[in-house]
Amino acid sequence: MRILPKGKRLRAPVAIRRARRLSLCLGFSHASHLVLVLAAFAFICPSPAVFAAGSDATVPALLLGAAWYPEQWPESRWDADLQLMQDAHLHVVRIGEFAWSTLEPSQGRYDLDWLERAVRLAEKHHIQVVIGTPTDAPPAWLTAAHPETLRVDAMGRRAKHGSRRQFDYASLEYRAFCAAIAEQLARQFGRDPNVIGWQIGNEYTEESFDPDTRSQFDNWLKRKYKSLDALNRDWSTAYWSQTYDRWDEIPLPSDGGNPGLLLDHRRFVSDTWRDFQQVQIDAIRKFADPRQFITTNVGGLGWSDNWDHYEITQPLNLAAWDDYVGEGHLNVARNSAMHDFARGWKHQNFWVMETQPGSVNWAPINNSLDPGETHALAWEAVGHGADAVLYWQWRDALNGQEQYHGALVGPDGTPFPIYDEIRGIGSEFERASVALKGTQPVAQVAIVVTYDSRWAIDFQPHNKNYDQLEVLLGYYRPLREQGLTVDIVSANAPLDSYKVVFAPSLNVISADMAAHLLAYIQQGGHLVLGPRSGMKDEHNSLNVERQPGPLVEPLGGRVDQYYALDSDVPVGGTIGTGTASLWAEQLSTRAPDTEVLLRYGKSNGWLDDEPAMISRRVGNGRINYLGAVLDPDLMRKVVASATSDAGVNQEFGAVPQNVEVCRRLDANHTVFVLINHGPVEVNVALPSAMRDVLDDGSFISNRDLPPQGVAVLETAAH
Ligand code: GLA
Repeated sequence: MRILPKGKRLRAPVAIRRARRLSLCLGFSHASHLVLVLAAFAFICPSPAVFAAGSDATVPALLLGAAWYPEQWPESRWDADLQLMQDAHLHVVRIGEFAWSTLEPSQGRYDLDWLERAVRLAEKHHIQVVIGTPTDAPPAWLTAAHPETLRVDAMGRRAKHGSRRQFDYASLEYRAFCAAIAEQLARQFGRDPNVIGWQIGNEYTEESFDPDTRSQFDNWLKRKYKSLDALNRDWSTAYWSQTYDRWDEIPLPSDGGNPGLLLDHRRFVSDTWRDFQQVQIDAIRKFADPRQFITTNVGGLGWSDNWDHYEITQPLNLAAWDDYVGEGHLNVARNSAMHDFARGWKHQNFWVMETQPGSVNWAPINNSLDPGETHALAWEAVGHGADAVLYWQWRDALNGQEQYHGALVGPDGTPFPIYDEIRGIGSEFERASVALKGTQPVAQVAIVVTYDSRWAIDFQPHNKNYDQLEVLLGYYRPLREQGLTVDIVSANAPLDSYKVVFAPSLNVISADMAAHLLAYIQQGGHLVLGPRSGMKDEHNSLNVERQPGPLVEPLGGRVDQYYALDSDVPVGGTIGTGTASLWAEQLSTRAPDTEVLLRYGKSNGWLDDEPAMISRRVGNGRINYLGAVLDPDLMRKVVASATSDAGVNQEFGAVPQNVEVCRRLDANHTVFVLINHGPVEVNVALPSAMRDVLDDGSFISNRDLPPQGVAVLETAAH
């Protein structure tokens, strides 16, 4: 009889000796008794399957949920709140990320029983739990006794108690406290069948400029450069007599400085957050079932770049971000690009750990989303690869800094108007779960970014209107208009699966990066480098080859000069005609087989009739360089010519304006999520008969979509 799970075998001598030693110190009379106990244990906790798989089979694969703060309410109220959640088809809550003072009222005195009761009660309502470690808001007793754990801002002011994010992310002492509370939670809930995952802290945001962090930065530089000579060389510190004779002369930059210093500081900040996080991952993993995922919720509306999201999400099991519209209404291109960006952090489906139930409280004008807009927002997330969407928050605390934030339930405990819309979403998620389970967006095209390039341009924009996200969206929108799934990934990521890769503003191209991109091209990839590409090396120093740096040779051309534009300039060529604005680079060809696809017209006297876009076949692929930010129409033509040149296939086909098409698939079938973001009802003709998942499940060949309407359509197995 097999007593251990498949593949797990105890090699007799070692295991028995160990078991015998263990059983004796655990008071078992005979080693075999202990083996029996171990075997039973292995059965209870099988090896990790897919994440978010709690023990409750009634919970759907596609989760809708909310942030819930039981510590803020009388326990007698919990059941009613959970019942209202269940009625709204919510199946997951996140608890605890701000509950330190309730979990550990004084140092080393823990009270986790209330959380245990909350988890059990949620279980009764078929609601699974993600536990947040409360390290974004340390309790008063901790910072009062250990003020050095409070962060110091760039002006040298030590933070105070009374809000959140007051901790010092680099403080080793603070990390010890974080590890202790995380360990306590993991000991209690690491094997809890109703706990499906962990969120480390909350939206890593503020750095610290205290002396200890500064010396950590100096040590970080010492480890990287080994010698001051190397640092002085790579940062060109002879400039303005910046030369460093001692490591502790190097400042923690807060308002500008040497580009080499600034870039390394950002990298240090990323490493410091990663270490802050790793301490808690280690504390949790010691006790947590591998079935339970560990993540963190990325704030800053996804695009913020205070730290490198690829680096921070790498050690996590799952990426998650907080998707807010804030002021105004859903910007489809920006919001869906952020989902694709988040999916690219770990190349897998992700969670929307927080999104707004109607309105927020932190925007200049906290208008509410329109009826139906929250519905469209939720399905847009799923269409782009989210497997869970959670609202912030279930109910606003009666006091505190977020009384005005949107919520599902009011201070009296009864639902707000938005509750019904969210209940509708919950019911749809349940109905679509089977079709969507295990599927994910798969892209033929990618847009690549790096934090080095983003930081390098942010440090020296040279044109205050050069918004890197808007430039990126200039490529993203036409790709989405073609109905294509788009991956937004790091330029360091494997690229071979993509037919064409667009690299807007890839400012920092080192020799290694160039080799990686060249290998992609030679094996058949099509690369389109955008403006400002390849200006800098890994030290944020100018590439001596000029742009695009180490890729000048394979491109057979280069940037002779770049211009920040204060007025639009005409551009035209085989692809089409239009204008360039913000930024234009005067290109030149340096190889006979390098083609000129676009030229500037009469403009600032320097650009007149000069190449604006060049292209060259290299190996089995092609490299293109577009040196200007083009108007949307011409950009649409540039992108269309690149995708057709690279042999990109249509995914769905033509749809009416304002209809967004998202595709998720697995080995057997494809599911399309269609969303009408327009103000009028439209009818969508389908490329083939598809099963209408949200309706009666029958096969249809066209579908009416009301404003904010959603269709989930499943193709017959392929
Ligand atoms: C962030 C935080 C939440 C809450 C919401 C408000 O995303 O993570 O705690 O403050 O914003 O929108």
